[in-house]
Parts: sequence; C-alpha cells; structure tokens
Amino acid sequence: MRATATAHPNIAVIKYWGKRDLPLNLPAVPSLSVTLDRFTSVTTVTWGIDGPVDHIEMNGGPASAKEAAKLSAFLDRLDPRRPRARVVTSNNFPTAAGLASSASGFAALALAANAASGAGLSASALSVLARQGSGSATRSLWGGWVEWAVGEAADGSDSHGIPVAPADHWDLRVVVAIVGAGPKDTGSTEGMIRTQRTSPLYPGFVQSAAEDLAAAREALLRRDLATLGERMEHSTLKMVGTMTSARPPIRYWRPASMAAMDAVLALRAQGVGAWATSDAGPNVKVLCAAADAERVAEALRAVVTEVVVLGVGGDPTVELG
Ligand code: DP6
Repeated sequence: MRATATAHPNIAVIKYWGKRDLPLNLPAVPSLSVTLDRFTSVTTVTWGIDGPVDHIEMNGGPASAKEAAKLSAFLDRLDPRRPRARVVTSNNFPTAAGLASSASGFAALALAANAASGAGLSASALSVLARQGSGSATRSLWGGWVEWAVGEAADGSDSHGIPVAPADHWDLRVVVAIVGAGPKDTGSTEGMIRTQRTSPLYPGFVQSAAEDLAAAREALLRRDLATLGERMEHSTLKMVGTMTSARPPIRYWRPASMAAMDAVLALRAQGVGAWATSDAGPNVKVLCAAADAERVAEALRAVVTEVVVLGVGGDPTVELG
C-alpha cells in the first residue's frame, strides 16, 4: 500500500529544551507550539517493495546513510517485522529558514507509514511515535496550538501532543527573520544534553516551565497577545541563558539576531504588539497580530537579508494511493 502525508513545521512558544529520558526522547519540560501554514513536508511511503533494503529519497536525491538509517529505525518502531519500504520526502521550505524540518518530516512520515501499513494508530499514538524521531515532531500531528505533555508513564506512552486550540482560534502571524547560516551549529539533541549536564542554570528553567506553560495556555485561550508574547520571550530567554552558561557554551545568536530583537523592542516602544523567539539557530521568529505583520516585516527587512510572513497552519493530511 502507498500513502502520502503532508505536515507543517511548528514553532515553540514555550520551549522544549532537555530530556528526562534519552532513548525514549521524553522531555524534561512541557512545551506549547503554534503550527505554521504554507511550509510543508510531503512524504510518500510505499509499504512493501522488492529487495533487501529500504529506498529513501529526501528533497530529490538519495538520503545520506545516516539519515536513511534513522528513517529505517523509525519505521521499525511502527512494526519490527515490517517489509522493506520506499520513502520519498521533500520540504517546500529552505533549510536556511531555520524552521525545524525534522518536526514536519517525522510527523508526515509517521502519518504516511501508518496509512500505508494499515497499522491504524490514533493521532496520539502517532504523536508518541513522531516524538521518537524528533521531540518537536510530536507537536506537528495537529494544526493550531499544541501542547506537549511531559507525561508520567515510564514507557512514554502519555508524552504526546495535545491540541489546545485550532488554527482558526486566532489570526496571528509568525514573521521569520532569516539571519542566514553562521558557523556550524550544535544540533539540538547535542545542545540539550550538554546544557543539562553542565549549565548550573538549567534546574531553574525546568522548575519554572510548568508555570510558563499554564500562563501561556490561559493567555492563548483568552487571546491575550501581550501576556502570551511576554511569556514566549521569557521562556526563550531562559532557554538561551541555559545554553550560554553550558560548558563549552552554546551560542546560536549572531549579531543580526540581536539586531532583529532590537527591532522588535523598538516596535514595542512604538506601540506595536510584537514579541520574539529563537531556537537552535540564529533566526528570529516574531509573533504578532495579522494587522501588524507588514509593519513588523518591514522593520525586520531593515536589519536582516530575508523575511517570511507565515500564518497559523491547519492539521496534517494523509491520502492513500
Ligand atoms: C529549541 O525537537 O529538534 O526548537 O528531540 O533532540 O530531536 P530532538 O530536538 P528538537 O528540539 C527542538 C528545540 C527547540 C525548542 C522547541 O521546538 O520546543
């Protein structure tokens, strides 16, 4: 059987940084994200092909041995006795956009493999599966606003995405300031592990995360952008504080990232409701009302090379055949 799934990346408003279990990829903190529109990962899985190995294509070419091994291991989790499969996956957004393609990629792979194999897993079970590909993928199984619970079960079965509000709940924009490729980044998994092991500030990030999440969820549900934006910046800056105090330190921001954040502060001083976040890279993402998006984009264009305006995306989709 063959199935094609389309999923969107997401941006964390309350940040996931650190793991309570490495093999199961369980988070040390709860997080909350917004799914983005327009940008997609499209993945086709053919379940049952001839030959001894899986065929895996990414963005128009064969996957590297490392990527192929990771995707094959992911399919094994769905069914350890599975037949060989063909996977063709591509993103319609540039890697330089710094939007986690692993989030939309593993969500789309979980959905397409589930449909192609006839496994019949629920969205929550697929979110658990996607989590084991990449943590942030657990939140890309739904559109709109999605929470990722830390969970309590030892096997991680209750640590998955929970949809909090649909895409049409609130017409917001995420304006992405693309700062561009700097020196080679530390990957998020490696960065998290080092931070947890070496930053004396990390326990404070963990202890305060549940309160950030509760306040952000409440602000989201009553559409209070100032409170949501302030919590997002606070969660981001605490995460960045743990990164920069790791040994050796991890610093993803470049001078242009700071310039973008200064532009956001200047907008706020002029009364424009805009708040910034960043992830494991130099790009800055700005949350604002739809009506302010052009003004925010214009201010960011003055300090960075490229700006993309995105809205809130819907649920992923899957089709057989
Ligand atoms: C900073 O999901 O890429 O973007 O689970 O190790 O694959 P792994 O990490 P990943 O980390 C994302 C971290 C973040 C914050 C977030 O998305 O919540």
